[in-house]
Parts: sequence; C-alpha cells; structure tokens
Amino acid sequence: MATDGNEMGINTRLAHSGNNPHDYFGFVNPPIVHASTVLYPNASVMAARSQKYTYGTRGTPTTDALAHAIDALEGSAGTIIVPSGLAAVTVPLLAFLSAGDHILIVDSVYHPTRNFADTMLKRLGVEVEYYDPHAGAGIASLIKPNTKVVFTESPASNTFEVQDVPAIAKAAHETGAIVMMDNTWATPLYFRPLDHGVDISIHAATKYPAGHSDVLLGTVSANANCWKQLCETFYTMGCCAGPDDVYQVLRGLRTMGVRLDHHQKSALSIATWLEGQPGVARVLHPALPSHPDHAVWKRDFSGSSGIFSIVLKGGGQRQQHAFLDALKIFGLGYSWGGYESLAVPVFLGDRTVAKGPYDGPLIRLQIGLENVEDLKADILRGLEAAAAA
Ligand SMILES: Cc1ncc(COP(=O)(O)O)c(C=O)c1O
Repeated sequence: MATDGNEMGINTRLAHSGNNPHDYFGFVNPPIVHASTVLYPNASVMAARSQKYTYGTRGTPTTDALAHAIDALEGSAGTIIVPSGLAAVTVPLLAFLSAGDHILIVDSVYHPTRNFADTMLKRLGVEVEYYDPHAGAGIASLIKPNTKVVFTESPASNTFEVQDVPAIAKAAHETGAIVMMDNTWATPLYFRPLDHGVDISIHAATKYPAGHSDVLLGTVSANANCWKQLCETFYTMGCCAGPDDVYQVLRGLRTMGVRLDHHQKSALSIATWLEGQPGVARVLHPALPSHPDHAVWKRDFSGSSGIFSIVLKGGGQRQQHAFLDALKIFGLGYSWGGYESLAVPVFLGDRTVAKGPYDGPLIRLQIGLENVEDLKADILRGLEAAAAA
C-alpha cells in the first residue's frame, strides 16, 4: 500500500508513504540503490535521456522514496535531498540569489546560516540584512526593490521567538520576493510552511526525521513556482546525498510521529515544571502560555517538539558552566532531535537585534526519550550546582 493522500492519520501516512512495495517485488522497504552509472537500452534513448533515471546525481529509487514521502508531508511540488541540514540552507540560497540582490534574514537564525550569509553571500555580492523576529507585517518597511529572498526560521534558534510567517510571506510576495523557512523545529507534522505562504521549506533531516544522532541529511521542498529553479541548481551543484543516509532517514520517518509525540510531552512536562524552579528566571518554550509569542504559536502550529531554552536567575558563565558540568544524563553536545537528551550553552553575541536582555545565562535543552523523572533529577543537579557556583 502506498498512500500519499492526506485523508489518513499522520502515523498511517508516515508508515506507508514514499514507495510502493509492489514496485520492488513486494519488499516493504525500497532498495538502497548505490549508483553512479545507469545504463540506457540504446543510443536514441541515451541521446534523448528519455528514461526515468539517467545518472546517480539525478535521483534513484531510494532518493525518490524519501522525496515523495516528504512532498506528501509538506504539500510541495518537489523535494531535493542534500548531505546535511546546512546544505539544505545553502543550496536554495545559491539557487535564488545573484550579485546585487538583497536578502532579509531573521536575526535569530541558526548561526551557520548567518555565517554563510556573512561570508559567502557577501563575497558573491549579495546585500545581507537581518530583521527582528517580531517584525511581522512591519517587514514591508525593510523590503527594497532588489530584495529577492526573505529567510525565516521559526521558532528562533536558541531563543524560540515565533514569527508571524503568514504576514511576512504576504509582505514579501507583494514585491515578488520569495520566502524560505528553516522548519526543522516543528517538522511538517506540526507546521506546514507552504500552507502559510512560504515558497521553500527547509529541514535538517539530521534531527527528528533521522532521530538517532547517527545521520546527517537535509531536505528542501519547493512549491510549483520555485521547484524548477531549485532542482536545476541542485543538479548543477552535484550535491546529492549518499543512499545509505537517505535510506536511514526514510526509516526514521516511519517512527517520527510516535517519537515526536513523546518528545513533545516530555519537553512540555519538564518546561512547565522548570517554570516553578527557584533558580530559573524564564523558560523559553512557545507552547507555554507564559511565552510572549504563545498566541501566534497556537494559531499556526499544531504541536511542539523537544527543544527549548531556560534562562538562569542571575549569574554568568560560571553558573552556566556549573549547571552543564553537573549533568549526568544530558550530554554536552550540538544537534538535537535524537533519542538522547543534550544541553548546550547559548551564545547570543552574533545577534544584532534579538539579543535580550535576559536575566541570566541561557542553556538550551534537547529533551530525549528518557524517563521524565530521571531528566528532572538531572536538571535539579544542574540548578543546585549553578546556585552554589
Ligand atoms: C535550525 C537548524 N537548521 C539547520 C541545521 C543544520 O543541520 P545539520 O547539522 O544537518 O547540518 C541545524 C543544526 O543544528 C539547526 O539547528
């Protein structure tokens, strides 16, 4: 059964989308096709390239299975699969920007996106400007005749401000700019960017789709207007992903719904509990009613994932490091979306607008699949160490 229709429940769709088992002898999973060369039956088919698969960089049954599954989730016209989440950011930017163009990027963007813009895009002659995550419809005043792309990420990296994406998309489209969104936090299960006016939806599939901290992968999904240009750039750049990694992400997708549900419940339980802890000034989680952007989150999103930040009550780097060093279950490591809990110190020094002020140092928590009571006990160890530092 291959069911890409939207009429079924999400876990049914995740279990069966992407490939039709009867296309490959009834095996439920698609083959992992290791490919460079594809043979043609004769010279005329070769000259016309008139067969489905033509060369390994241009797609295989394995990449098609994942791309079709993602298209069904995103409601997109096409999806490219690239070797990392960062490549899923850089490839569409290179596809749609030229020298002399202007790009507006949310100030609270994932730091390596900012680094790419500040180094490579600027070197290629693109004018880069950052906007306040709360700009909303007001972004219209920043749009110039040469603004080609508005790049959003919502909720924000590390500080979790929620943007008014429909208002931003409306303003951008009025002057013909296209809107890209890094939607890694919500996954298409909890937010479908293209339904809210976004043209290109970006995912670090490394996170929840892969789910096991062992694969790097990115997906970029475009609406019908943007698909051709995105796909041509992808072919031009030759940045295709390896078949084993693609397969692992399709495998992860099958269980993403149940994993996300667990991440969501555990993270919300811990975030709510943290609001009552004496050493915590604020919990930055958009699904909490206390979050300043909670109403926008509630309007646009249908769920929340497992990553949020806390602001310690006072102190500085000494307290932040004491908290982190006291943790026994949470690992100190980058990335998120895997089965295991992680904590990182938050650095806001690169920001120009969205940098606080906050009452104390920030720590980002990725809540994994472990038992909530064990995680709370670990966080308490951190809070006690920070208070004693
Ligand atoms: C919001 C966001 N986008 C993109 C990426 C990049 O993903 P990857 O680690 O696969 O390059 C990350 C990684 O942490 C991320 O947090």
